[in-house]
Amino acid sequence: MPASSDLVVLVLAAGKGTRLKSQLAKVLHRAGGRTLVEHVVRASQPLRPRLIVTVLGHQAAEVGAAVEPLGVRTVLQEPQRGTGHAVLLARKAIGHPKFLLVVPGDSPLVRPETLAALARAHRQSGAAATILSAEIPDPTGYGRIVRKEDGSVAAIVEDSAANEEQRAIHEINSSTYCFTLNQLWPCLAQLKPENKHKELYLTDAIALLRQRGQLVQAVMATDADEVLGCNTRADLAAVDAIFRRRKRESLMADGVTIELPETVLVDPDVVAGPDTLIEPCVQLLGKTRIGANCKVGTGSVLANAILEDGVTVKPHSIVSASHLARGASVGPFAHLRDGARLDAGARVGNFVEVKKSRLEAGVKAMHLSYLGDARIGRETNIGAGTITCNYDGVDKNPTTIGRRVFIGSDTALVAPIRVGDGAYVAAGSTITENVPPNALGIARGKQVNKPGWAAARRREMAAKKPAKKRRRPKPRRAKARKKTARRR
Ligand code: UD1
Ligand code: CA
Repeated sequence: MPASSDLVVLVLAAGKGTRLKSQLAKVLHRAGGRTLVEHVVRASQPLRPRLIVTVLGHQAAEVGAAVEPLGVRTVLQEPQRGTGHAVLLARKAIGHPKFLLVVPGDSPLVRPETLAALARAHRQSGAAATILSAEIPDPTGYGRIVRKEDGSVAAIVEDSAANEEQRAIHEINSSTYCFTLNQLWPCLAQLKPENKHKELYLTDAIALLRQRGQLVQAVMATDADEVLGCNTRADLAAVDAIFRRRKRESLMADGVTIELPETVLVDPDVVAGPDTLIEPCVQLLGKTRIGANCKVGTGSVLANAILEDGVTVKPHSIVSASHLARGASVGPFAHLRDGARLDAGARVGNFVEVKKSRLEAGVKAMHLSYLGDARIGRETNIGAGTITCNYDGVDKNPTTIGRRVFIGSDTALVAPIRVGDGAYVAAGSTITENVPPNALGIARGKQVNKPGWAAARRREMAAKKPAKKRRRPKPRRAKARKKTARRR
């Protein structure tokens, strides 16, 4: 998009959001994986305005912390006396551009293209104000666009002040506007708090502009979803659903197959390559990056995971902040915690937990294991039930296992410990000393077989038991009657 050096964007984000019944300021609630205000700022950025100013009020520090990393200026509105008051307060910060684009911090679905089209329409028309409006099925709660016969806008009437006839209007004010500033400022100075909330309403500026003989137009959004505000929890859920759908659709457009897409939740920064298959009920969170030809099985949750091409995550696995190289495979029911790294073709099976460990190419750990703070050399096999005892109650200690090692089932490796290349560890061992390369480490009680012991014991037990009394079987009918009685 071309730069808009004659334009400043003002994001209104000072309100509390009483209708959410929350301790958290409205614009800090999340939908589609981001805070509402962050969505709005991000939608404004591609216009490349001279400046983006955000009006803060409720939880100013927290809202500021959410937007300042995006490079916006902030002003404090304290107390909050309405949307018109918010613009007045920002006057100094706005400076002297020709145009002001006002966007409400609680309408996160607006797209950059829509904002750009609004600014373009405003520039071309020479109007003093251009309102982004929309036709929606249920306009309750929104300000209504009252038009004149020639189609120009006469006023915005708030829901609480609307008469019967105005309430029937389905074209609503999105609270997104483009103003020509030298015409707006004199009108804002005339605003009066003569309404239900005793606030200065920015919407009243429209009628004032008309009184001064200025033209006001409204441009209807092509997609009414874009103007949805988030005033209630139900609104938040509806907006979240739309964001999630948009994200899934963009992944599918990139060549990703998503089964039962409405059950799959994907955060905005997630990317995935073509011919990857996402099964139902999967969550892809944070900055997860998935290559081509991967498969993510049902019920899995990937958070900040990196999957190279051809990786398989079988159902019900959790992968967080871990890296799976080409052709690696995990699950079902695997848990890869932060810092797990599987090199090419490494495999982790069911009920295996891996933390801060590197499994080199071709390593297999297929069943019931915990591998923490471990480095495991290529082609090594980790038997079922192997545990790295990495924690001594104070420190986390490393386990280093060489290449082509065979760790027998149910081995406990008490770290810090090293097992050399090509070594064997016997099943059931508790290994507390390093195993040299190509050696067998065995650390378990020696087995003793006692011939005939079991049979002798059974005879002994039988001799001790008193002879069984012969119980007389109950008459069948009585039993049946009892059963039905119980059922009742
Ligand atoms: C506003 C409009 C209404 C429109 C609707 C669209 C007014 C008077 N009404 O109503 O016509 O249909 O948006 O969603 O403008 N804010 C401040 N400072 C304040 C008050 C509000 O920064 O003193 C911010 C809020 O944080 C919010 C935005 O302005 O992000 C809109 O305020 P809100 O109270 O949600 O207005 P609505 O009642 O939705
Ligand atoms: Ca609102």
